[in-house]
Amino acid sequence: MNSKEHWDSIYRSKGDDELSWTQAEPLLSLKLIGEARPSGRVIDLGGGRSVLAERLVDRGYTVAVLDISEAALERNRNRLGAKANHIHWIAADVTAGPSLGVFDVWHDRAVFHFLTDAGDRAAYRRLLLQTVPVGGHAVIGTFALDGPLRCSGLEVRQYDGVMLAEELGEQFALLKSEPEVHLTPQGKRQSFQFSLFVRV
Ligand SMILES: C[S@@+](CC[C@H](N)C(=O)[O-])C[C@H]1O[C@@H](n2cnc3c(N)ncnc32)[C@H](O)[C@@H]1O
Repeated sequence: MNSKEHWDSIYRSKGDDELSWTQAEPLLSLKLIGEARPSGRVIDLGGGRSVLAERLVDRGYTVAVLDISEAALERNRNRLGAKANHIHWIAADVTAGPSLGVFDVWHDRAVFHFLTDAGDRAAYRRLLLQTVPVGGHAVIGTFALDGPLRCSGLEVRQYDGVMLAEELGEQFALLKSEPEVHLTPQGKRQSFQFSLFVRV
């Protein structure tokens, strides 16, 4: 099964309460995006069925959601009804070099940590550089050093802010990192870190 088929089959077979990453309100993401920019263009990488895009539209941002899973995007669009028309939906693999245009803020909760292949991480970095100009920001949430070793049947990597900064390279300066303990719908605690970067 390739990556798209893997994620499509998950979104087609499981309800929100069965997805470990389901979060009622993406409060830390909203806080860090707000600190980066009070308005502007935000892209949510691997947005899945997250309510983040909707919350950002409500705050006046221009929003795009990219996900490898068309099933995830369709589910999010259906949930939103007419409001979905205010969001640009992009079905694409972040490692496949899609052309995205320019955004002020790049947001990723729980996608980068799935990239266990160095070539995929290099492709992610290239896309980030193409998409976020100097002065733009990236908010990246991953499993922390004491976070899970696997998620949805896949191996993952763990990061702290400094390790993530090394991955992104010197064109992204680390402004801050904040820990978050995510409580899954199944009641498990998962340790995340969220880091805010500025492109220099
Ligand atoms: C753990 S979920 C997190 C979803 C969402 N960010 C959230 O916080 O609720 C990971 C998401 O990344 C998407 N994904 C995985 N690999 C991807 C890739 N290479 N390119 C784009 N999206 C990807 C999956 O389809 C899934 O929606």
